[in-house]
Amino acid sequence: MKNKALYTGSFDPLTNGHMDIITRAARLYDELVIGVVVNPSKRSMFSLEEREEMIRKATECLPNVTVDHFSGLLADYVNAGGFDSVIRGLRATTDFEYEIQMAQMNARLYQGHVETVFLMTNPNYSFLSSSMIKEVHSLGGSIDGLVPEIILEYMDEKNKA
Ligand code: COA
Repeated sequence: MKNKALYTGSFDPLTNGHMDIITRAARLYDELVIGVVVNPSKRSMFSLEEREEMIRKATECLPNVTVDHFSGLLADYVNAGGFDSVIRGLRATTDFEYEIQMAQMNARLYQGHVETVFLMTNPNYSFLSSSMIKEVHSLGGSIDGLVPEIILEYMDEKNKA
């Protein structure tokens, strides 16, 4: 039977920190779905369609990775999709408190056996967040090496508009 994992987030935008987790998770599972969350309360720079398109392009070299989106409860999407694992990246100890709460709440909501699997972020990217990337880029700072090339192109385009 195939092992299927979900890696979820807002990805506004996808960073090299996310790419590191995606690349490593894609080696561990037969199928990896990137689930872009539809969160109406979070104002995003990129539309859902743009975020999905950007992730598809950035991950096209990974044949077992697909991109999807969901709204509402993560656990509902996981239960409906027949996932074995939900992948989370841990950047620093500060992520731990939030992540353990979320993993434990979700564990109550999952039907069947679904594991939350934590991958330690590559230290090169442990300080990164999408908000920081957006702020530095909008103020003219360099984000070279912190996002995939294709994401930088989308960001340059968006900031020109
Ligand atoms: N590298 C770089 N940045 C990273 C990262 C990594 N490896 N991992 C996380 N980040 C960044 C993200 O880009 C994000 O930055 P931002 O806040 O500036 O946008 C920040 O760290 C937080 O990431 P994350 O915790 O993944 O938040 P999110 O908003 O991207 O996604 C969900 C949150 C989708 C996991 C969560 O809100 C959810 O499950 N929602 C569904 C509703 C639900 O079920 N709620 C009940 C949960 S118990």
